[in-house]
Amino acid sequence: MEHSYSDGILTVKLLKRIDSNNASDVDKELFAAIGECGAKSVILDAADTEYISSAGLRVILKLKKTVEDSKIINASPEVYDIFSMTGFIDIIDMKKAFREISVEGCEIIGKGGHGTVYRLNGDTILKMYAETEPLAEIEREIEYARNAFVAGVPTAIPFDVVKCGSCYGSVFELLNADTLGNVLAKNPDKYDEYSKKYIELVNTLHTTEADTSRLSNIKGLYNQWADEMAELLTADEIGILHEIINSVPDRNTFVHGDIHPKNVMVQGGELVFIDMADITYGHPVFDYMGMALTHVIAGGRAPQRAVQIMGIDYETGVRLWNDLVKARFGSLGEEGLKKMNGLLTAFGMMKFTVASAVNKSNPQQLKETLIGISRQTFFPNAENLIGAVKF
Ligand SMILES: Nc1ncnc2c1ncn2[C@@H]1O[C@H](COP(=O)(O)OP(=O)(O)OP(=O)(O)O)[C@@H](O)[C@H]1O
Ligand SMILES: [Mg+2]
Repeated sequence: MEHSYSDGILTVKLLKRIDSNNASDVDKELFAAIGECGAKSVILDAADTEYISSAGLRVILKLKKTVEDSKIINASPEVYDIFSMTGFIDIIDMKKAFREISVEGCEIIGKGGHGTVYRLNGDTILKMYAETEPLAEIEREIEYARNAFVAGVPTAIPFDVVKCGSCYGSVFELLNADTLGNVLAKNPDKYDEYSKKYIELVNTLHTTEADTSRLSNIKGLYNQWADEMAELLTADEIGILHEIINSVPDRNTFVHGDIHPKNVMVQGGELVFIDMADITYGHPVFDYMGMALTHVIAGGRAPQRAVQIMGIDYETGVRLWNDLVKARFGSLGEEGLKKMNGLLTAFGMMKFTVASAVNKSNPQQLKETLIGISRQTFFPNAENLIGAVKF
């Protein structure tokens, strides 16, 4: 059997069939290789494997007892079934091979910052990512979306990660729908109906409890991003960011991370979220700061940005924002609302600051220009945000 060793991990390519005819040879070869390199982990690559009999399974059992950190990758559906039916799935960690699919002849229905969206058939879409997109991040979007879906957040069913030539993609339920951005742009007369539904959708998300063991805490992520800005910010500025972030109350409800009308679809009059790559848990202020940025701040600097980001014009974005804040904080009265609006917009500038620097596609010079804007508009009053979130 082909095998290779590096960093304490022995990777072994399993044969097409492992049964009573060859199991003892497989056993000998496998344990000889382990003895030779003293592997701490073993990966069995089952890409070519079509069948494993009980004799083969006994070799796997012995391996697991000898090298605890062992796993199988690239299992075909047939091999996966054998492990599943025999209960071996609970004994050894097993990863299925990615389905391979082709998008030849498939209609492109959307293009986003991360990839191209194809209609695969009447029921599913494929979000295909660039070759450079790390597989772990693609798998994470599906996992996060599944987490939110089973918790009751309205979103498309996340299916699986698939291989498409040299790229990977994720398969989701096809929503026979248009984005809220397009619906609002085409039907301004329906603003009242859809803004109300948008506000309800956002509130549903922010009152749905997340499985915190399987998602990141948004405060942890912001702290990490603040630390990644050492080249652009002074130690004092980074310190202020940490103080603001750590003073936000903890919550265990969902945070979408990128709420705007282009990441919401209208299906049969119901609104559902898409683009679940940045799902975390924590205080809703982290979504409000993102919405302040997309709905108000970005278009305020350049109105055409509003259309690019949200699919609606700047005025409609601001109107949506004001209605969102009013629905959520209306009990504060007119003065209180104004203050809250100011506070959330200042938080929006914190997101602007962090996102400008953390966005990998921004060239260094652009990052510096954007941080220059933050130094004029955000940092002078940033200390006021420490401990300011009281809702
Ligand atoms: N489940 C779905 N059903 C139908 N269309 C979809 C679905 N998911 C995405 N789309 C279409 O594809 C577009 C891009 O999707 P999505 O927002 O998930 O991608 P993205 O690359 O993360 O975009 P960005 O990061 O720029 O917001 C959407 O605006 C929508 O038109
Ligand atoms: Mg999107």
